[in-house]
Parts: sequence; C-alpha cells; structure tokens
Amino acid sequence: MKTIRGKRLKLLIKEEDIRRRVKELAKEIEVSFEWKEPPVVVGLLKGAFIFLSDLVRQFNGFVIIDFMQVSSYGQSTESSGTIRILKDLEIDVEGREVLLVDDILDTGLTMKEIYEFLRMKNPKTLKTCVFLDKKERRKVNFEADFVGFDVPDKFLVGYGLDWGEYGRNLPEIYIVED
Ligand code: IMP
Ligand code: MG
Repeated sequence: MKTIRGKRLKLLIKEEDIRRRVKELAKEIEVSFEWKEPPVVVGLLKGAFIFLSDLVRQFNGFVIIDFMQVSSYGQSTESSGTIRILKDLEIDVEGREVLLVDDILDTGLTMKEIYEFLRMKNPKTLKTCVFLDKKERRKVNFEADFVGFDVPDKFLVGYGLDWGEYGRNLPEIYIVED
C-alpha cells in the first residue's frame, strides 16, 4: 500500500493503460495537424511535463516545444484575471499550429485563460489537450479538444500531478484517500 504524508493512495489508472491511451491520443492529434511547419506544443508547468514528454515522443513528425508557468490568484481580487504568468512563451506562435497541453482540467479557469492569452498571439490553429478531465468540477465553459481519461471528482496524484509537490514521479495515477 503506497502512502504520501500519511494518506493512502488508491490506484486509479495503471501504467500500461496510460501508455496505451497516450499512443491513441498522439495518433488523433497527429492526424489533426497539417504539419506544413513543425507544430508548437505548449506545456503548462509543472504538471504537464511527464504527459507532454510521453506524448511528443509518439509523433511521427518534428514539433517545437515550449512551456508556460502560471500561478493562481486564488481568492484575490486582482482585476487582471484569475492567473498570473510566471513564465511566458519563448517561441513566437504567430501563424503556427499550436497545441496547449495540461495534466488535468478541473474548474477550467487555467486552460480557459491561457487559451485566450494564446489566441491573442494569432496562431494559425490552437488546440488543447489534457490527460485527465474532472468534468463535474467545471466552473467555466471550456472543453479540451483531446482528453485522455474522464476522472471522478477526487484528488489525484502521479504522472505529473502533485499533492503539495509530492507524488509527481509516480508512474501511475492514484486517488489520495481521506
Ligand atoms: P483549473 O484551473 O481549476 O482547471 O486547475 C487546473 C490545475 O489544478 C491543474 O493544472 C492542476 O495543477 C491542478 N489540479 C486540479 N485537480 C488536481 C488534482 O486532483 N491533483 C493535482 N492537481 C490538480
Ligand atoms: Mg498544474
């Protein structure tokens, strides 16, 4: 029985199921690109780093990789929005095919805001992919174009997802039990 800081972890998605689904997703995404120029894959740090690294290695063409990191404003009353950009893009995405990748879609606030932010940079196309989707938790109208698995409204760790920075390097996805 695995535990993190005294909480039990219950296996939700096995490593082989993750591997199989990542391959399927990569195929779906691959055929959706024109590939005239290398698409730009934008990952959200830190959670997306493992999923992104598995996903891009399944593509049969070259992609350019960039990352953004944002922090949530939480309950603060900042008028500039709900997120703050800690690390911006380094690549110019104007006129490029862009894929925005995150580990999990929860309330949708993060993806929706970054989606709007990237739209303003005039990419040729902008698609979104999340490995996990907690549909029940959505607070804004946002759906990803490509989803790995729908998951229940439970706190999850592993495969990039953390619980207070613990558990990101677990190769499977677990529910943190209370
Ligand atoms: P959203 O803006 O509410 O959709 O938040 C998405 C972000 O919250 C993700 O990028 C994750 O970092 C984090 N998150 C949401 N649910 C979980 C979870 O169950 N485990 C770990 N992180 C989560
Ligand atoms: Mg995250």
